[in-house]
Formats: sequence, C-alpha cells, structure tokens
Amino acid sequence: MARTVRFVLAKMKPGVTREEYERFEREVDYVIASRLENPWIAAAKPPLARRLFDAVTDPSDAGRFLERKVALVTGASSGTGVDIARQLAGAGARVAVHYRMAKAEAERIVDEIHAAGGDGAAFGAEVARSDDLRRLVADVSERLGSVSVLVNNAGPFNDTPFRTLAEADWDYIMDANLKAAWLLSQLVAPGMERAGWGRIVNIGATSAFVRSHAVYGLAKAALLHLTESLAIELAPAITVNAVVPSQIASPRTDTLAEYKARAIAATPLGRLVTQDEIARMVVLVCSPAFDVVTGRAIIMDGGRTIPRFPRLELKQD
Ligand SMILES: NC(=O)c1ccc[n+]([C@@H]2O[C@H](COP(=O)([O-])OP(=O)(O)OC[C@H]3O[C@@H](n4cnc5c(N)ncnc54)[C@H](OP(=O)(O)O)[C@@H]3O)[C@@H](O)[C@H]2O)c1
Repeated sequence: MARTVRFVLAKMKPGVTREEYERFEREVDYVIASRLENPWIAAAKPPLARRLFDAVTDPSDAGRFLERKVALVTGASSGTGVDIARQLAGAGARVAVHYRMAKAEAERIVDEIHAAGGDGAAFGAEVARSDDLRRLVADVSERLGSVSVLVNNAGPFNDTPFRTLAEADWDYIMDANLKAAWLLSQLVAPGMERAGWGRIVNIGATSAFVRSHAVYGLAKAALLHLTESLAIELAPAITVNAVVPSQIASPRTDTLAEYKARAIAATPLGRLVTQDEIARMVVLVCSPAFDVVTGRAIIMDGGRTIPRFPRLELKQD
C-alpha cells in the first residue's frame, strides 16, 4: 500500500531540491494537493513520482489523514468521547483515551482500537486539576508522541441555580469545562507549532445560548469565546473550532422520557443528535475539508436553537 505523503505542494517554495523535498517528506505529514503545480515534481522520475501519484490516488488511504498523528480525547471512557476516540483511530490517529475514574472502561476502548488495527493507550487525570493535566500531557507525549489533535470533550454538567450554587461547584464546573480546555491547549500548542500542524476541537453545548443552565451554560459560553481567541492566537499552524451539540441521544437521555419528548418536539429535524454524528463531525473538523475553518462553532442541534417568535396567523382578505 502506498504511504500517504502528507504535504501540500502548493505551499512548497519554488526551486525546492530533491534532498529538501525528501527531508520534508520525512518530517511533515500532509496530503499532496497536486504534483503538477511544481515543475520539479512533475519532472521527477519513478519511483518517487510514482509514489507521489499513488499517494493521491490510492483509495485505501483516502480516509486515513491522521496516520501517525497523536490525538488526545478527554472523557473518552464513556459517552461521546468513546465514539470520538474510535473514529479518530479509524482515521489513523494514535489515540490517548483519557479517563478519570473508569480505567477499565478506557482500557476496553483501547483494546477495541487495537483489535480494529489502530493504536492508542489509556491515561487517567482529573481535568479540574491543573497538575493532573500537566502530567497527562507529559505522559501522552512520552508514551505516544507529541499531541497533534486535542479534543476537549470532558465537560461535567450542573444546572443548580446561581442563587444556591456552592462555591466549590462553581470552581469545579468552570475548571473542568473551561480552564482545562485553556490549559491543555496551552500545553499542547508548542508541539503542534513545531510540527507545523495541529487541530483543537472543543465540545461545547447549546446550554451556552440559554440562561437556565447556570454555571455550566456560563462555562460553555466562555468556551466559545476561548475558541475564537485561541483560533487567532494559534494561527496559522493550528485551527481551533467548537462542535456544539444540544441534548445528545443516549441511554441516559432515554431515562428522562418527558424531557426527551419535549426536546424532540422543539427540534425542527424532530430528533436528537447522536454520539456517532458528533464524533464524525470532530473527525471532519480535523480533515483537509476544514483546513481553512478556524474559530467557528458548528452547532449540531437539529435547528433547535434557531430563534423563533410565535407565528401570527393573520387573515389575508
Ligand atoms: N450529554 C448531553 O446531552 C450533552 C449535551 C450537550 C453537550 N454535551 C457535552 O458533550 C461532551 C460529552 O458529553 P457526554 O454526556 O457524552 O459525556 P459525559 O457522560 O458527560 O462524560 C463522561 C466522560 O467524561 C469524563 N469526565 C467527567 N468529568 C470529568 C472530570 N472532572 N475529569 C476528568 N474526566 C471527567 C468521564 O470520566 P470517568 O467516567 O472515567 O470518571 C467520562 O470519560 C461534554 O463536553 C458535554 O458537556 C453533552
């Protein structure tokens, strides 16, 4: 099978030598845009020219644009993070499956990834503790390599009204949902910049757009602000985007039958977003299709948060 050569020829300086190219090919991981854009490549003799051609035409490599890159997914021992970890592995990434308490579950996900021909390992940390996060990034880098894809997914919920919210709960929700995303981004950004490529995806929530989800909504709203700020600060090597689901279809949601029915009734598309759909969007955001997209929130809510007023049924005479 052809090795996927990850490099955009359009960005190669004019007059690049073969030695320079081969060194670059060893160090840089990206897909070739077109060999015709560079006269040196167009004139290259096989086997290199053949290899380049294969790299853009071999369909077996088509979806593996994260080959040999390391992806860290927080909160991947249950819920949406599991699907994100699995699908990033499917795109070729070596996945750091992060957990807090559920070590056995995280290890089971890693076993599944290995059984499917992928690579990864499990890592524990409390995301509300800065020291844990520093250790997490150091451990992942040492065991799997420098992080190229960071998915800030762990995000505990709490909708206790502000008037009765305990200070410790404020700190925990803000630290786990917001501070962790900032600190992890700060910790992994230098490695991404050295590699010339990185993707940060923050998992938000449409709670950011309402005023009834208290400190959780506040943290998720601030996460969108952080996403935009980091997108500016970390450009051009790194893109930073948010994937923002509303209520996710899950066994837990099924236990809240009335809440679920009301959510579906208020959703134009008439159903809840699935974990699989969110994971597919995360992978898409890390794909070449999103190379020019940064600082954006991709809202996956079936249209539920589109502002609407009640329709006035005026009679037309
Ligand atoms: N569920 C929804 O309907 C919904 C709606 C909109 C947005 N979201 C957002 O989508 C993301 C995924 O939500 P989800 O409901 O699928 O997953 P979830 O059940 O909230 O998350 C479970 C995962 O997060 C880890 N985790 C939770 N708190 C942690 C902490 N303090 N430190 C480290 N790890 C922690 C858990 O680790 P252990 O089990 O190993 O302890 C587990 O791996 C979150 O950002 C959430 O805010 C969810």
